[in-house]
Order: sequence, then structure tokens, then C-alpha cells
Amino acid sequence: MGQPSHTRRADWWRSAVIYQVYVRSFADGDGDGVGDLAGVRAKLPYLAELGVDALWFNPWYPSPMKDGGYDVADYRAVDPAFGTLAEAEKLIAEAAESGIRTIVDIVPNHVSDQHAWFRAALAAGPGSPERELFHFRPGRGRHGELPPNDWPSQFVGSTAPVWTRLPDGDWYLHLFTPEQPDLNWAHPAVRREHEDILRFWFERGVAGVRIDSAALLAKDPALPDLATAPHPHPFVDRDELHDIYRSWRTVADDHDGVFVGEVWLPDPERFARYLRPDELHTAFNFSFMTCPWDAGRLRASIDGTLAAHAPVGAPATWVLCNHDVTRTVTRYGRADTGFDFATKAFGTPTDLVLGTRRARAAALLSLALPGAVYVYQGEELGLPEADIPAARVQDPMYFRSGGTAPGRDGCRVPLPWASAEPYAGFGSREEPWLPQPADWASYAVDRQQDDPGSMLGLYREAIRLRPVFGDGPLRPLPAPEGVLAFTRAQGAICVVNLAASPAALPVHSELLLSSGPLEDRGRLPQDTAAWLRA
Ligand code: NOJ
Repeated sequence: MGQPSHTRRADWWRSAVIYQVYVRSFADGDGDGVGDLAGVRAKLPYLAELGVDALWFNPWYPSPMKDGGYDVADYRAVDPAFGTLAEAEKLIAEAAESGIRTIVDIVPNHVSDQHAWFRAALAAGPGSPERELFHFRPGRGRHGELPPNDWPSQFVGSTAPVWTRLPDGDWYLHLFTPEQPDLNWAHPAVRREHEDILRFWFERGVAGVRIDSAALLAKDPALPDLATAPHPHPFVDRDELHDIYRSWRTVADDHDGVFVGEVWLPDPERFARYLRPDELHTAFNFSFMTCPWDAGRLRASIDGTLAAHAPVGAPATWVLCNHDVTRTVTRYGRADTGFDFATKAFGTPTDLVLGTRRARAAALLSLALPGAVYVYQGEELGLPEADIPAARVQDPMYFRSGGTAPGRDGCRVPLPWASAEPYAGFGSREEPWLPQPADWASYAVDRQQDDPGSMLGLYREAIRLRPVFGDGPLRPLPAPEGVLAFTRAQGAICVVNLAASPAALPVHSELLLSSGPLEDRGRLPQDTAAWLRA
């Protein structure tokens, strides 16, 4: 069987639908309570039917799981809880046979404290060359009892220190947990090693690499206090990064590989610098992901995104949710429909009916925009954010905030596949690693798959129809206050009504798809989106 034509396209990544697989919670193939590669392989037909072009896997490498696998002990292997390297290779090949490409997640800013390099650095002691691969420093204060600088934790809401002192007196830097020591990117061996890791995975058939914490790698070598040396920032968005990514790009180009960077930067111009033609191909759009459900704010985010990408010729990405943020139906069902780590709180009142309605409209909006779209696993089922009992919480963000930040487990709950089976068909014989809420079975794939009105039905149909928009640029259409309307070169129209009163549809020849029923006279109700043929 020949590959579908879209998978052969060299520029597939410019308009792909990319499904994010959080392996630990996707499907459990061996029944031990943890999702795994066997589970993903068994569900490839489901992913093919959903119609996605690529899968982005969160880190699947051996890891003590102190930060959900973002503490990597070995970048060239697979954690035994997930499977083996041979199985990852099979998965990559089988997915390709179904026309689905694979994107792996590389974590270059830090390693696990169990990584061979860090263990060697600990053993070798202060002043050793092994310690030069990291940021080891003596402390301040008369006896070195104070941390070397004042840098804040990169887990928002956490006041926990980013320095840990060893019994031998040295301190080491970790922007995240103490089990994630930061690498020293000024060291040539660090650069060589990562370029080799990239080659390793490209040679195994992966089509792309997601770069974790992409704007944090480079540090001011003097490690100055942030309070006294805020410009240029001592560890965020430093100019040295561009040289690193330019050499990564040559590695990717040798293998037709592509990058997507996790670049959280408020300034669109600084953000776009990472997307220059000889750097990263794409980066996640956090402006859109955190944007409140408000027509003006969404329009500004979309326009700002497109304007920032245009000068560098990079496609935008559209993201509603990922493994770090509140699930979309929950976020949109709250008074504050934006996302901000700093305001995430326990017990926020939520209207899931409203949130689901908006999430359906948002799905049609994001799938109509020019660029690539990321769909986080479970979004296609309309899963809400789950409440995790305190005794079962796993996320270090919760612990490092002293239990005040809810953390990110609520969007990482094992998926429901079959409503009548134990653990909603996740596949486990025993309690999964995170508990599923009591009503989880009602969201199961088997409850939705034959219902065109379900969230799954909507996603499948929208992904199937999406090519009607073509690959032309966005052209806004005149629309009343509170309504977003645009077309693309091929003539399809997307309209989203966020206003209280129903909106008349623009002139069209056919209603292709809508996120909810229209009113009697064919008008578009509030929080509803429609795709039309012009
Ligand atoms: C971003 C990842 O998405 C997040 O899950 C992780 O905790 C941090 N980077 C640190 O690696």
C-alpha cells in the first residue's frame, strides 16, 4: 500500500495535525498500571482513524520520573516501564506505515541526577573536569552556606531554591527540581553530545524533535544575581542560543528532520528569532494556548501570531492544551478562561457544559487556522481536568509549591477507552499510576466513536475536512462585534460566535460542519463555530 500523499510532502510540518502522546497515560499494554509503547502500538488504528499526521511523544527515556520523564537518565534508550528501544523502533516504523510520523522530546537544559555524567561529576568532586559539564559553584556567605545566586525556580509558584548544596561544599544549579541538574551549554562536550543524540533518533526514523525548555539552555557564565543583572537575562532567551540551534539545524537538515521548540517568551519579536530559516522550524504558540475565550483577545492573539511568523517565513502552531496546563473544557468553563500557572488554584468553580461548548468551537477555530495544530491526548474526548486526591499527587510542581499549586497531574490522567472495562479500558489490571475520576467511563472512546455529535466525532470530521481550507493565508471577513470570521485562499470560511446574540452566517453555498446546532433561521448561536463553503 502506498503512503498517503500528505506523508511524502517535504513540508508536511507546515500544516500538520500533531497528536501529543503522554505515554504514561495513553494506553497500558502490559496491565501494570502505567501506559507503554505496546499500548500505543495497539491504538495506532485509532490514531490513523482520527486522521493525525504525526505523534509527539513526551520523553520515553529511562528516568527516575521525578518530573514525569523530564529527568532523563539516558537519552538513547527507553524506560523499561514503557518498553524497549527495539519496540520504539517498531512503533516508529508501524506508525509510518499508517502515514503517521513520530516526534520525540529532547530535554537539553538538564539531565536526571541519575544520568552517568552527573553521577561522575558527584564522584569526581569539586574542581574536577566532570563538574564543568554542569554549573557547580561554591556558596556565598562566610562558610559558603548561601546559594551562589538569587535565581528563581522555573516552576511558577514555587519558592523552592534552584541550588542544592552537596556534602563536599559545592552547590549545583537546577532550574527545576534538585533531581534535574542544569547542563553547562558553554561546554563543547555538551553540544557534541546533544547533536549526537539528535542523530541517534533521526537515524531511527523520527521525523521531528520537540525541544524542552528551549529558551533556557544558555547561562551567563558569571551566573550573576537576577536582581542586579536583569539585562540581558542571565538564563532566559540569551543570544548564544541561536548559534546552538543553527548547528542543530544542520543535523536536522541532513535527515529531513524538523524541530518544534518549547519557547515561552512574551515578546513576539524575540520569539520569532528562534524561527529564522536556519534555526527551528516551528515553536509552540503559548499566546494562543493561554488566551482567554474572548473574541477581541483571540483575534489579537491570532493576528499577533501570524504577524510575528510572517517575516521569518515560519508556520504558526495552534495549541489549546498540553501536559502542563489545565484541560480545555475545564479552562473554558471557568470565570477566568485564560491560563496562567500563577493563578491556577484548587476548587475553582467550573461549568463543564459551557466549557465543552466553547472547546468544541475552539477545536474548529484552531483546525481552520494556517499552520500546524497540536492536539493533546484526551482533548478529542473532551476530557476535563481531574481532581487528584492529595495522597496520589505525583507532580513536583505541587510539592515544590508547598502544596499550594495544584500541579499538572489533573491533565495527565490515564485515558478512558472502553466504558465497561476496569479502569475505563486503560488496560491496567491494577490501579493506574494516577486515579481516574468516577465518571471517566462516560468519556470513553467506545461511548463516542459511533456518535457524530460527540467530541471525538467532531475532531474526526474536522481533521478529515480540514484540507478544504487549503494552504493559503488567512483573510479576515467583516463580522459583527464578538464574531471571528475568516477565509483562506481555497474558499472555505470559518466563523466563530463568542457574542451573546446569535449571528447571521456569511454568504455561503454549504454548511460543512458546525460545533453545535444552528438556530432555526440558520443563525450561529453563542460559543459555536461553523465551517462553510464559500
Ligand atoms: C517543560 C515540560 O513541558 C514540563 O513538563 C517540564 O516539567 C519542564 N519543561 C522541565 O523539563
